[in-house]
Amino acid sequence: MKVFQEIAELQSFIAQQRAAGKRIGFVPTMGALHSGHISLVQEALRQCEVCVVSVFVNPTQFNDPKDLQTYPRTLEADIEKLEAAGATALFSPTVETIYPEPDNRDFAVGRVAEVMEGAHRPGHFRGVMQVVSRLFDIVRPDKAFFGEKDFQQIAVIRAMVELLSLPVEIVDCPIVREEDGLALSSRNVRLSAQERSFAPEIYRVLSKSRELQGSYSPRQLEQWVVDQINATPTLRVEYFEIVDARSLERIEHWGDSPHPHGCITVFCGQVRLIDNIAYSSSI
Ligand code: PAF
Repeated sequence: MKVFQEIAELQSFIAQQRAAGKRIGFVPTMGALHSGHISLVQEALRQCEVCVVSVFVNPTQFNDPKDLQTYPRTLEADIEKLEAAGATALFSPTVETIYPEPDNRDFAVGRVAEVMEGAHRPGHFRGVMQVVSRLFDIVRPDKAFFGEKDFQQIAVIRAMVELLSLPVEIVDCPIVREEDGLALSSRNVRLSAQERSFAPEIYRVLSKSRELQGSYSPRQLEQWVVDQINATPTLRVEYFEIVDARSLERIEHWGDSPHPHGCITVFCGQVRLIDNIAYSSSI
């Protein structure tokens, strides 16, 4: 695997690959890689001849400076995992390389970036769009691969791609879970042993809520999920919303959406975990 820190070198490598007729798949990450990221690399290699991965902890998407400071950074281990997965190239730039000047851009993508995470983490999606648009501009991938754990992030990135008419296909890939159901996340390493033992309750309750869909309205089911999770030690729901999977608008009735989707954020101790689940469109 080639490792690049500089834009010019990465771009000349990608230009050679493209000249050889190869399609460029791109997996943007913030490092601390786990099997969820590796599944994105594998999917990229199934669909493209070249897989470029970026590892960059993007300061502009952290609304909490402490979160940025404590975000896990494990570049050596990341390189080993990417080598083993067969990634073609790693781009691990410095902050100065990505932002030679402060990035003041805003993106008018509308409500998808304002609800849920947008409301609870002001500025977060603006930072995500700044870095992803910058990385797309550098790599110019044919396809970019994102994990469905960050369900709203994918909707925001799709909206940005449309807004800017970027020539890249966004591919969403399924959530990878631990055997007990906990969605893989770089933040899971911060859980204490006790918190880790309670965290799987999030997905257990979400799965159970799918079975109850026929007996409750979306609002009643939201409340049921919140009550169940809040009754578990160390867990506190920040929000749980059942929304239309495309618009991300909250729904009143199951018939309001062809694709109802539940999005949740839960504090497990001090660690903020997110997850989501698809509900049936025909009940
Ligand atoms: O999902 C992430 O890890 C980040 O938000 C992303 C897309 C790499 C942008 O920094």
